[in-house]
Amino acid sequence: MKLLLTAVLAWSLVVVKAHGEEIESVNVYSFREAKLIAPIIERFSQATGIKVNVVSGKADKLLNRLIKDGDNSFADVLLTTNVARLEKAKQLGLLQPIDSVYLKTHVPAPLRDRQGYWHGLSIRARAIFYARDKVNPASITRYRDLTASQWQGRICTRKGSHIYNRSMLASFVALHGQASAKRWTQGLVANLAMRPTGGDRDQLRNINSGKCDLAIANSYYYGMMSQSASQQDREVYANLGVIWPEQAGAGTHVNISGAAITSAAKNKQNAQAFIEFLLTEQAQEMYADINHELPIRRDIQASGLVGSWGDFKGDIDSVQQLYSHLAAADSIIADTSW
Ligand SMILES: [Fe+2]
Repeated sequence: MKLLLTAVLAWSLVVVKAHGEEIESVNVYSFREAKLIAPIIERFSQATGIKVNVVSGKADKLLNRLIKDGDNSFADVLLTTNVARLEKAKQLGLLQPIDSVYLKTHVPAPLRDRQGYWHGLSIRARAIFYARDKVNPASITRYRDLTASQWQGRICTRKGSHIYNRSMLASFVALHGQASAKRWTQGLVANLAMRPTGGDRDQLRNINSGKCDLAIANSYYYGMMSQSASQQDREVYANLGVIWPEQAGAGTHVNISGAAITSAAKNKQNAQAFIEFLLTEQAQEMYADINHELPIRRDIQASGLVGSWGDFKGDIDSVQQLYSHLAAADSIIADTSW
């Protein structure tokens, strides 16, 4: 009875608030592009009546703002595209744990913080791409195959210092140790076609324009190019193939996009409801279809496009270790001038 009364009271408070023109809301700091999550947010608001206010921006800028604002922070929820940022925010005391059976059920244990401070929302894979007319994909099944002498002067990557490459290298440190990860980087750098420049999409374009035959890039970019408004980018998709490396081993390097509730959250219940919504079947399917990322729920399939690239196994067991190996990765990147 007491519970019911509390529920009714909470509900009537919401109504009173609504009459006072004050509607239920949740405030989100998003380190990812607003347009990618807009359709999911719209569904959440339709389903719950909770208004979502989103501030999108560069990760470091928003993180600094969160630190500066402290307890007065506007943000209830953080959405990020990298586990390192979630770990950093946790260690800076900017997050609070969530104890949710729903989240524990749907987010595989390696892809959420053991203490509940952050939860993965989608899986982002770092794959190898090749020129269909120049490379036999059977010759590359592992990242270390990129260090073979036959690929000298034929590989493109963005700078080593970008978080995607730092994280990938951190996973190699976690899996094989620092000395092995350094040898791999030296081998890769020796095979580069040019000084790293541009983003992941540029590396794929470089293959199509003949500057190189192989590249490392996050796979969702390749998926996006298949539907690009640019004819040239659609050609890139048609002329390149994708390899999921390490399928016989630890799995392709993956990172996550993830969510967390800030320690300063004023709308904690709404924040939790929002994060739980991001793990529902419909939101997970939207992540897969709109962003070409892999769903985090094991019971939800990748999009038809991503599925057409072949069976996928991701190295999810390294995800929780990436942050602690970033410093080792950085020193390798500096030493090898990647
Ligand atoms: Fe990206």
